[in-house]
Order: sequence, then structure tokens, then C-alpha cells
Amino acid sequence: PKAFNRRAFLETAGYGAATLMLWPFISSCDGQSSKAASPVMDPDFIPDIDLELSAVERDIPILSGPKTKVWVFEGDLITGDKEALQASKGSYLGPTIKVRKGQKIRIRFQNNIPEETIVHWHGMHVPAEDDGHPQDVIHSGETYIYEYEVMNRAGTYWYHPHPHGRTGPQVYNGLAGLLLVTDEEEQQLNLPKGEFDRPVVIQDRSFDEDNQLVYIQSRMDSMRGFLGDKILINGNAEKVLNLKSGCAYRLRLLNGSNSRIYKLAWEDGSPITVIGIDGSLLSAPKELPYLMLGPAKRADVWLDLSDKPEGIRLTMKNESFPLEVMSGGMMMEGGETSLPQGSEYEVFTVKTTSSGSNEYSLPQQLVKSNYIDPSTAENLNNPRQFSFAMDHMDWTINGRTWQTTGVVDEETVKLGSTEVWELINSSAMMGNDSGGGMMGDGGMMGGDEGMMSGGDMMGNMMQMPHPVHIHQVQFNILERDVSDVDSQLWEAVKEGFINDGWQDTVLLLPGMKARVIMEFKDFKGLFVYHCHNLEHEDMGMMRNFKIT
Ligand code: C2O
Ligand code: CU
Ligand code: CU
Repeated sequence: PKAFNRRAFLETAGYGAATLMLWPFISSCDGQSSKAASPVMDPDFIPDIDLELSAVERDIPILSGPKTKVWVFEGDLITGDKEALQASKGSYLGPTIKVRKGQKIRIRFQNNIPEETIVHWHGMHVPAEDDGHPQDVIHSGETYIYEYEVMNRAGTYWYHPHPHGRTGPQVYNGLAGLLLVTDEEEQQLNLPKGEFDRPVVIQDRSFDEDNQLVYIQSRMDSMRGFLGDKILINGNAEKVLNLKSGCAYRLRLLNGSNSRIYKLAWEDGSPITVIGIDGSLLSAPKELPYLMLGPAKRADVWLDLSDKPEGIRLTMKNESFPLEVMSGGMMMEGGETSLPQGSEYEVFTVKTTSSGSNEYSLPQQLVKSNYIDPSTAENLNNPRQFSFAMDHMDWTINGRTWQTTGVVDEETVKLGSTEVWELINSSAMMGNDSGGGMMGDGGMMGGDEGMMSGGDMMGNMMQMPHPVHIHQVQFNILERDVSDVDSQLWEAVKEGFINDGWQDTVLLLPGMKARVIMEFKDFKGLFVYHCHNLEHEDMGMMRNFKIT
């Protein structure tokens, strides 16, 4: 039996004229009791923005030659300001949804792909039934109504599917889009708007000779995660942003890749000016020599082209870093290898194709109240610890793997509490003897996984980073403990991280421990935390936490 959410319903015609049939809530596989279905749309909920979003199968041109079969989001605005939905018909990237803090939004999500799915609003603080929990998947042909008030700060958020076991392939096939939130505090800063506020969604993909997307074939490759051989920017293979000389821009960077980590740097050596990260603007702009951007991370970058003449090109490249590891090229069909993770390559290029006059200047201060006072945490000196590791060929958190509704005491928190969690990537700490320590006595090379020697495989797994994401909250990063991180690796990347601001995903390098502080407020229920390497997530490196 399949689980249906209480808000899922079957649609027999276009909505509006739809006859709604409520599905009974049938128990999911790990044995929760049945719940009755409840009405789909709340008649008392008056949305400021009401839109339809569907996941559909399309053939679209990405490369020259044959079209590519993709699964993408398409949107239509039913009510609300035109600005709220930047349509994207025919593109690989989903529409950008723009909302203001305090607005009420309704999203009528229609699943028109041939498998189960559900949409998650990454970084957003929403009720459990609006969060896209894997137990809320709907079948092909069904609709799910989301209704929530935007409570987040101004920031760059995004949305993508979240069915267990299929998030990696669904995002890979094209299901992802940006959700931008603005608020009063941000409005007062007069940051670049309209054409000067640009999405830069970075994804790596691989295509076969018929221009069709190629995904992971073997479990061994899934262990590492997907690494493609081509970078797409906003779904385009032509990775050029045509901007105006003389103007200042806000570039909304999102690493929408399944597993790839970027070390971004302007090729001309100028620093990267970061003004925002995940769920907030920074307290003040920060200049970095390079920016580390793990999967699911966002960074808002200020780009000033006021002294750049027309006709120049400015390239954002990936700089090399020694995360050899699992980064070695993945064997693709036909024996080609993908772009190694830590190699040098072009990510995108800015081209000044015309000129304009600048209306924006970089504020020296951005937002206030960017921190939770650590002394308000109940467990500051005794944080909950969550250890992300390989265990007998499974990706686990504290030794456990995914269960749809499973939750244990150490994953249960109180509504209204402020807590510190210590997120630990224990892969590098356990295997210095390159032996059994990491895997326990069973060893990891049992069964049919014999294509690599135990030693190689071990070395590889020991160096797997885990970008850890917690739903429902935005946290502050109190500390990154790197005493167990390989020093050569740390030297190469350490200036690319930001601790300021409200974040929802933290890249744990092998051996890293990060202490994060957050408040659990407003909504009770089951939410998930997981590794945002989507292949790790799909393989079970995801758990529930419960707010009671
Ligand atoms: Cu962006 Cu649970 O995910
Ligand atoms: Cu999320
Ligand atoms: Cu991981």
C-alpha cells in the first residue's frame, strides 16, 4: 500500500471544474496508523499568490542537435503579482517564484511525471504537511495543495522533489527551481532588482551521443554520488551571462548539482564579494579569494561592472583542490570520464554585451540580528551529536538508515527549544589504519563489490564529504572543528567558507565537525535531516526528527 497525504486528491478534470475525490490515508510501509483525509483547499486561506506548478515530461533543446528528454517544472500564476512567477516554459530550470515575507501562498502542485513525487521548499520554515516529506508523495496524475505563510527572511531558497530513493534522478532530470524571498529590511537596502538580480544555478550533467541525459548505472558509482562532464548554467549548456557594462549585479548562485562541490574563483584574481548565504543576507559584505559551494548551498554575489568596458569576458572558474578521492573521473558510457571534482575548469562566463547606467551601490552594512545568543541553548555544552558515516556499505546517521516514519529519542526535540547540534563527518577519523575500524568486523568489501581493491575503496570512502541539511530551520554555524580534516585539503579550501548569517546546509569535509544552533518553533511534526549529496540521501543517509 502507498501512503497518501491528507491533502492529496485525485483530479478528474482541470482544477476549477475538478471533482475532488479524497483518498483515504493508507498506512505506509513501516506501519503507521491510518489517517483520514481532510479537505484539500482551506476555504479560510486567502492567498496573496496562488499558482499552479506541475512536474511534466518534455523534450527540450539543451545541446545542438536532438532534443533532450527531461522532467521539468512548469508554472502558471492564478492570482498575484506578475512578478511572483518568472515563467520558464521550454527551459530545463523551473520557474523562479518570488515572494515577500508575510505573504500567503498557495501552490497547486500537479504530478504529471510517470512516478511518485512530492515537492520540498528547501530552507523554508513551513508546517510539516507543506514541507514535502517523503511520506507525502503523490502518484502520477494527482495534485497536492500547499498553503503557507512566508515566514522566512529575505534570502535565496529553492524547491525540488523529495521522494525517498528517487530525489537524485528526479532533480537530475530537471526538477528544480529558485524561490526568492524578500522582506522590508532587504527592500531598504536598495539591492539590484529586476534584470540586475540574476539567477546562476550551477548543475553538472552528462549526455550520451543522442543528447540524452546519462545517470548513474552502478551501486558503486552511487556510493560516491553523481559527477557529470558538463556544467549547465540555469539549464543552459551555453554558460554565458550577458550583462551590461557599467552596472552592478546581484548574482544568486545555487549549487543545484547532485554531488559536486565547487571552489569558485574569478579568473582575473579579483575577490568574490558575497552578500548573502542560504536563508539570509550577511551582516556585511565579505570578500573571499574563492568560495566553497557544496551541494544545495546558495551564495549571493555582488558583481560590479562599473569599470568594465563593453565586450569583455570575465570567467568564474573552478579551482583545483585535493579531494582526489571519489573525485577521480566516473566511467561514463563509452569509457569517457567525468570532470574530476577538484580539477580546474570553467563554470560560467560573464560577457558585457551592452552598457547601462548604474543605480546601485554596495551597502557597507547589510542586515542586523543575524545570530541566536548561544547562551539561550539548552544544551550548549552537551550538544546532540549526529555522525554521518559509511557502515557496511550503507550511508548512515548515527548508525541508522532511512525509515519513512521512524524516529528515535535522540531525534525528538521540544517545540520552542533552542538547541546545538554537532554534525560529524566521521569518515576520515575511523580509517587511519585503512582497516576494519571503519567498517566494523564485517568489512565493507563483502558481497559483489569486488571491482576495486579494499584499500582503494577504503581510501575513497574515507574522503567523502557530506553536505548536511536540516529541514524546517535556519541555523547559525557556531564552529567548524577541522582538527581531523586532512591538512592539505583544509589549506586549499579554508578561506572559502562563511559562518555568518542563517544557513540550512553545511558542507562537512571528511573529518569535519560543525556545531550549529537553531530554534525549533511554530510547527510540530516530522521533518527530515539528511546528506544533500542526493545519491547518499537516496541510499538512506536521511532521518526524521520530530518536534513535539
Ligand atoms: Cu534540498 Cu531535504 O532538501
Ligand atoms: Cu530542505
Ligand atoms: Cu553524504
